[in-house]
Amino acid sequence: MTTICDLDPTTAEALRGAVGEARVVTSLEQLRIVLDTDVYEDVVVLGPSVDPGSAFRLAAALRISRPTLSLILVRQRIDTSLLAEAMRAGIRDVVDERDLYRLNASVRQSQSFSAALRESAAPAGGDGAPGPRGKIVTVFSAKGGCGKTTLATNLAATLADRGRRQVCLVDLDLAFGDVAIALQLFPAHTIADAVPLADVDFTAVQALLTPHSPGLTTLVAPVEPGSAESIPASLVAHILELLRQHFDYVVVDTPPAFDDQVLAAFDLSDVVALIATLDIPALKNLKLTLETMALLNYPRERWRIVLNRADSKVGLAIGEVEKTLRAPISVEIPSSRDVPASINRGVPIALDDPRHPVSLAIREFADRHVLGGAPSVPPDTAVPPDLRKDRRGFFRRRPS
Ligand SMILES: Nc1ncnc2c1ncn2[C@@H]1O[C@H](COP(=O)(O)OP(=O)(O)OP(=O)(O)O)[C@@H](O)[C@H]1O
Ligand SMILES: [Mg+2]
Repeated sequence: MTTICDLDPTTAEALRGAVGEARVVTSLEQLRIVLDTDVYEDVVVLGPSVDPGSAFRLAAALRISRPTLSLILVRQRIDTSLLAEAMRAGIRDVVDERDLYRLNASVRQSQSFSAALRESAAPAGGDGAPGPRGKIVTVFSAKGGCGKTTLATNLAATLADRGRRQVCLVDLDLAFGDVAIALQLFPAHTIADAVPLADVDFTAVQALLTPHSPGLTTLVAPVEPGSAESIPASLVAHILELLRQHFDYVVVDTPPAFDDQVLAAFDLSDVVALIATLDIPALKNLKLTLETMALLNYPRERWRIVLNRADSKVGLAIGEVEKTLRAPISVEIPSSRDVPASINRGVPIALDDPRHPVSLAIREFADRHVLGGAPSVPPDTAVPPDLRKDRRGFFRRRPS
């Protein structure tokens, strides 16, 4: 349910017209009574006549007492300082008074967000308190276009298993991320919105998530490629740690480059899936990646090799590849034109067709290397900070 609060009854009714089914209150006192009596209230829209100070104070109090409730602020004028303050207070979205279509979309998105959050609160102990450490799985290849996003989105959907587990998919391809496109999401926020926040706690991160399907939530990459530079690796590490405390699995998609943010994800990962295709440039890059990881003392037991489009008839035998890499291939994902078709539909093939050979291969990887046996990384075995030095520049960045 949604409650609309505006001191002017006419404005309140106009907002209700845009939102659809909602109750209307015309004072903050009435709003407090509604919230005290309806503990399942999902969304509150604060109209333009509610003064910003009261709105921020209310939001700051509710983010602690009611973390699953979304607050949407409607304003006559929106500027960056208002947006920053709203984010800090934990307001989920700020909408222009004239953009009623956007208000409707924001309310709908907030409702599904709150529902997803209520579900995800359950395994963490039901009270929003941190649960047991979840696992972080990072998908990487130093060459572009090998299938990182395909594996990351499908692995996340497979692990979520239609709501059986709570999974957050994080797009760390900060300049060219396409998780939102691959899943046909229309996110209100991206990871870049965490940058201006003074204090990034789990409630603040929750407000940036975009739910996809039961059990599967995402933290998407910025829309503007330029924002990537402004997201410090330390913030990425902090966000991943917070997510790990509240989700069973955090799956990280990456750019084809060893940048600082990727290295931060590696340091925290329980499993790194290194993906390559059966062509010489991809395998050369994979070999370089393995050598670099060995040089940097990344624990061998944490990485796995995934061969994508493994049945392509290109004259390279899997056995020869394993011999060259001096490492076994954990799973072979076949090539299928159903993969790009599923991306065009915005539904991971693992959800759309769980019996498809591509879905089965990804499930096998999840079962054998993520859900089963993969060791959880105790905090004191994370790669020491001094090993993080001088790791840049091994691989070329993707040309823009
Ligand atoms: N097993 C497969 N069979 C057929 N097509 C595939 C398969 N895996 C990936 N593709 C296709 O290959 C293309 C690249 O895949 P994807 O976007 O997942 O790669 P990526 O490594 O994330 O790329 P980038 O480095 O640009 O982020 C996509 O069009 C995708 O549909
Ligand atoms: Mg990608």
